[in-house]
Amino acid sequence: MGARDWRDLPRAPAPGAPVCTAGALAEPGTLGLDLGGFPLLLVRTGIGLFGYFNACPHQHLPLDWRGGRVLSADERLLRCSNHAAGFDAATGQGVEGLGQGCVLIPVPIEETGGEIRIGSS
Ligand code: FES
Repeated sequence: MGARDWRDLPRAPAPGAPVCTAGALAEPGTLGLDLGGFPLLLVRTGIGLFGYFNACPHQHLPLDWRGGRVLSADERLLRCSNHAAGFDAATGQGVEGLGQGCVLIPVPIEETGGEIRIGSS
């Protein structure tokens, strides 16, 4: 089953909305943000910058609810801090534990001129 469209979620930000400065997100690293009531998880790995609606499909808690360390050391997995569901960091597909058969909802992210914004696609 495919992911829901982020634009249909409550309080979805407008395309182009500012998120944060590029320097606020470590490489590699993750950053959970509240954009006017819309929970966003930014993920930066060696292969790119990704964004997800920060609600784990298991119990709809933020992935970083119990701590900010959700990116695996090899940068391939996001592991929910609540019950350890594992998701592919680049696609959001559930690949381990309670994440299997689930998917994170992707949010397009753009980075230009030292700023991170919501993308348009
Ligand atoms: S809320 Fe994420 S694994 Fe349970």
